[in-house]
Amino acid sequence: MTTSDRMVASATFAADAAFLLTDQHRDPLAGQGRVPARPPQLGPIAVLPHASAFFTEAVIAGGAEIGELSPETRGLVWLSEQRADELDEILQTHPGIGWVQLPWAGVDGFATVLARFADGSGPLFTSAKGAYSEPVAEHAVALTQAVLRELAPKARVDRWAPVRTGLSLYGRHVVIVGAGGIATEIIRLLQPYRVRITVVRRSAGSMPGADRTVTTRELHAVLPEAEVLILAAAATDETRALIAARELALLPPTAALVNIARGSLVDQDALAEALREKRLLGAGLDVTTPEPLPAEHALWSQARCLITSHSADTPEMTAPLLARRITENVRAFLGDRRFVGIVDPASGY
Ligand SMILES: NC(=O)c1ccc[n+]([C@@H]2O[C@H](COP(=O)([O-])OP(=O)(O)OC[C@H]3O[C@@H](n4cnc5c(N)ncnc54)[C@H](OP(=O)(O)O)[C@@H]3O)[C@@H](O)[C@H]2O)c1
Repeated sequence: MTTSDRMVASATFAADAAFLLTDQHRDPLAGQGRVPARPPQLGPIAVLPHASAFFTEAVIAGGAEIGELSPETRGLVWLSEQRADELDEILQTHPGIGWVQLPWAGVDGFATVLARFADGSGPLFTSAKGAYSEPVAEHAVALTQAVLRELAPKARVDRWAPVRTGLSLYGRHVVIVGAGGIATEIIRLLQPYRVRITVVRRSAGSMPGADRTVTTRELHAVLPEAEVLILAAAATDETRALIAARELALLPPTAALVNIARGSLVDQDALAEALREKRLLGAGLDVTTPEPLPAEHALWSQARCLITSHSADTPEMTAPLLARRITENVRAFLGDRRFVGIVDPASGY
């Protein structure tokens, strides 16, 4: 089972349990849907490959009735990344399906399915992009502070240490790769620290709240000035190993690297080497490749590497947010056609 699927399974468990704080987090994209170029046809919705009472309720709350998968199915709420192959098969054998809701903000686990529809011929895909921004951005800021304040090496000692080291976040230059929901929330959370923010994104267009926005082509130009580098971009072919030996060498030796996006964005062997050679202050990684990261991986032995095992958004946090995204998109499917979290199969996010 992948980490993502373990999270869906536990989200299903968490979602069906009574201890969820359903209004704890806000979805910043709620109410900001848009009408797709080819709105899907109306028809029955199926919840697959396994329904849970909580997510089934979310569909019903949107005004739909849930049906078994059949040639009449037009909408599909798909809750498993591990079983992406089955989704692929279902879409091939049920060409009438016009809308598919995916469970995660990152849809890299569905890359094969999406690639088949890169020409725009397939159903409308929506994801949870942006929905998990608050908890994930909170975790990104926590990792940033932990790395700057050297909490990982300090937590490993078992007696009073005569070191008074650590860096303050106030006034630093933070480079954020990605300009989506999570990046937006990170910028908001960083405001009290009076940091200077540069955003590196794929498309052109300035990012609200950032001092400077550049495209990925200018990544190398901004890295030498980055005191904190936070990765919050989608995992695609273009972002694979975006931060490798060359990029790590461009960072100042006092820089903190934080990755809450996907492990594939970083060349982990190059990172382990940079940490071993003290060419970086430290790294805070919520995500790795693969997950779980094998116990023998060199990153585990780096005292200045804090790995949080993909827990930036716990099942208890994501379940209510996913449920609300599902309800909103079911309403869009049945009514106003304003879908939230539309995925572009050609760009893979
Ligand atoms: N750790 C966790 O538990 C966790 C939880 C949720 C999400 N995530 C990961 O975080 C990612 C971001 O989430 P989100 O909700 O903010 O998604 P989002 O709103 O879809 O944002 C994705 C961002 O990636 C940027 N991007 C894509 N290709 C890029 C490239 N080549 N260079 C620079 N930026 C690029 C996009 O830039 P443009 O704006 O220019 O298109 C966009 O701003 C997800 O894709 C997922 O993999 C991790």
